Amino acid sequence: MKIVMLGAPGAGKGTQAARIAEKYGIPHISTGDIFRYNLKNGTELGKKAKEYMDKGELVPDELTCEIVADRIFMDDCAKGYILDGFPRNIPQGRYLTDVLTKADQKIDFAIDVEVPDENIVKRMSGRRACPNCGATYHIVNIPPKKEGICDTCGTELIQRADDKAETVKKRLDVYHDATQPLIDYYKELGVLKTVDGTQPMNDVFEDICKILED
Ligand code: AP5
Ligand code: MG
Repeated sequence: MKIVMLGAPGAGKGTQAARIAEKYGIPHISTGDIFRYNLKNGTELGKKAKEYMDKGELVPDELTCEIVADRIFMDDCAKGYILDGFPRNIPQGRYLTDVLTKADQKIDFAIDVEVPDENIVKRMSGRRACPNCGATYHIVNIPPKKEGICDTCGTELIQRADDKAETVKKRLDVYHDATQPLIDYYKELGVLKTVDGTQPMNDVFEDICKILED
């Protein structure tokens, strides 16, 4: 079960990918989380990625593609995986298809979580994230049990640096220009599935499970 999650920033890719990963016992691979982890640990990759992330721009493909190509052939990916935030433009999509084709593999589902731009800004301003385990909350929609504290690991929640209104607007522009064309790309490959991401989180999850189990 090899899955790609598509959708605008804040569409709920990370929220759903985490639940799918748990239910089906496959790894959740988020390039955004990998960059944030490197940033937190002060690595060279983290420092380079920060320059782009802070501006809401894409990190260059040469820094991104190889990381994914290494990760998806690790032992824990044998049963499949869920890619969240990769690919993010057509060259990354083609790169992924090429490395998989060479290994006689392919993506089984590209799930597009559709949420209109109007809803996105509200979601981002209310998002809180756990800097330790990566769990995501929303102060109104999906609050943690104890305010400001991660349910899973008890760490204090933070607001992501790129969730400022100006940066969110830039990320949305980048999404429309660079990432949205992947919807047609995966449609042509015959693996595109669309879910209505404006529904409550559990309903979105049920729709995705139906697609995966069909
Ligand atoms: P990344 O971390 O991937 O961010 P993104 O794609 O912009 O998406 P988000 O993580 O912001 O949103 P999401 O769809 O995961 O939504 P979430 O579940 O959190 O990338 C960050 C940056 O890294 C990029 O800008 C780029 O610079 C760089 N980068 C990453 N990958 C790259 C790549 N491949 N190439 C180049 N650069 C790359 O949900 C959002 C909020 O809504 C939360 O508060 C959540 O609780 C709430 N919510 C979720 N579902 C629902 C629901 N159904 N109803 C109501 N609220 C909901
Ligand atoms: Mg995310």
